[in-house]
Amino acid sequence: MQAFFFVFFPARSLDKLYNFVDCSGLHLIFGLNALRRKPDNTWNSSNVLSLLKYSASKKYNISWELGNEPNNYRALNGRTVNGSQLGKDYIQLRSMLQSIRTYSRANLYGPNIGRPRKNVIALLDGFMKVAGNTVDAITWQHYYIDGRVAKVMDFMKTRLLDTLSDQIGKIQKVVNTYTPGKKIWLGGVGTAWARGTNNLSDTYAAGFLWLNTLGMSANQGIHVVIRHSFFAHGYNHLVDQNFNPLPDYWLSLLYKRLVGPKVLAIHVAGLQRKPRPGRVIRDKLRIYAHCTSYQNINYVRGSITLYIINLHRSRKKIKLTGTLRDKIVHQYLLQPFGSEGLQSKSVQLNGQPLVMVDDETLPELKPRALRPGRTLVIPPLTIGFYVIKNVNAVACRYR
Ligand SMILES: *[C@@H]1O[C@H](CO)[C@@H](O)[C@H](O)[C@H]1NC(C)=O
Ligand SMILES: *[C@@H]1O[C@H](CO)[C@@H](O)[C@H](O)[C@H]1NC(C)=O
Ligand SMILES: *[C@@H]1O[C@H](CO)[C@@H](O)[C@H](O)[C@H]1NC(C)=O
Ligand SMILES: *[C@@H]1O[C@H](CO)[C@@H](O)[C@H](O)[C@H]1NC(C)=O
Repeated sequence: MQAFFFVFFPARSLDKLYNFVDCSGLHLIFGLNALRRKPDNTWNSSNVLSLLKYSASKKYNISWELGNEPNNYRALNGRTVNGSQLGKDYIQLRSMLQSIRTYSRANLYGPNIGRPRKNVIALLDGFMKVAGNTVDAITWQHYYIDGRVAKVMDFMKTRLLDTLSDQIGKIQKVVNTYTPGKKIWLGGVGTAWARGTNNLSDTYAAGFLWLNTLGMSANQGIHVVIRHSFFAHGYNHLVDQNFNPLPDYWLSLLYKRLVGPKVLAIHVAGLQRKPRPGRVIRDKLRIYAHCTSYQNINYVRGSITLYIINLHRSRKKIKLTGTLRDKIVHQYLLQPFGSEGLQSKSVQLNGQPLVMVDDETLPELKPRALRPGRTLVIPPLTIGFYVIKNVNAVACRYR
């Protein structure tokens, strides 16, 4: 949740938006309108230029992106834009930014394409050829399933969870052809397209897909994941109409607090297939390991955080071995709370319901300490985080 993203926005509303983002300690990435086109189909940038000038006069520190899912423009305004044209538009935008002192070194991201089907990959290819070096990171979007037809059991299909892995591979292949090593961002992700599904993509059940997204993306080298959305767009949001956190918010909070960016390889004995980057895993028990976040002052450097998704209908036991065997483990087990089960909009952490203390205060996220050597028990259809304390793992001692 370090970035925000909007399409179509009147210039004057920028003040409110920027103040909100600034007060929240976030950084704004503004999605500019790429749909204004001249008769020859090149981008008409005149509106954007006035917005940039206004924003620069206020010294707003903003990063930029141009357009949203350009592969869909035919549906929106009856005109297609191909990759090389979009690349030229980005080059034009970059030179506009360079001509404005406040934005001469601003970050620019793109092309923000949708699901990488064949025509979309062709668009990316054309874009990379022309503008691969113009952008600071390549962005694309992923939605797992059609929100109009999604059912709760669909959200737990391993084949669905694994679609992301294939897509990351497709994007990486094109990007690495033109600009090897260029950062790739998942610039918009939600459980379901068509605005999500009421009572589903805003419930505990969505957490499997969300945590899977975070785990797979990190594992496969994606630098940033941007959630669609934070507030009030369909049912993929993190907080409800009254700003109360939904299950994916609590999941994100735990992730932010406990999981650092450094990914560790894991070896699981007794599983038929080892989860390996870039490979379809199809496992119902998904285990990810990272260095514990250095920002978390409760854990010394060298600690390890595991996060686990159990999609089995039975509980699963995990025994830590080797240097992990005799360490204290802090468990943060996240389960649905209330009679709706998986479709609950409330969660409990280690058996305690999570609710805001007041409008501005988050509750304490209390771990349960497991004595050294204890087997981890993951109940059916749940998500858990486990901090293995004081492992002093070499990979996690330094940045
Ligand atoms: C570009 O857009 C501006 C503002 O909407 C309009 O006045 C102008 O005529 C357009 N230019 C072209 C070449 O279409
Ligand atoms: C603008 O924000 C970015 C991201 O937070 C930061 O890295 C950069 O230093 C800021 N630039 C200025 C001029 O404050
Ligand atoms: C892309 O679109 C532009 C403008 O519509 C057109 O001039 C150009 O020929 C197209 N390029 C390719 C490779 O199709
Ligand atoms: C969503 O679930 C709540 C509580 O289970 C129920 O009262 C409501 O009618 C449901 N809404 C829809 C659109 O299914």
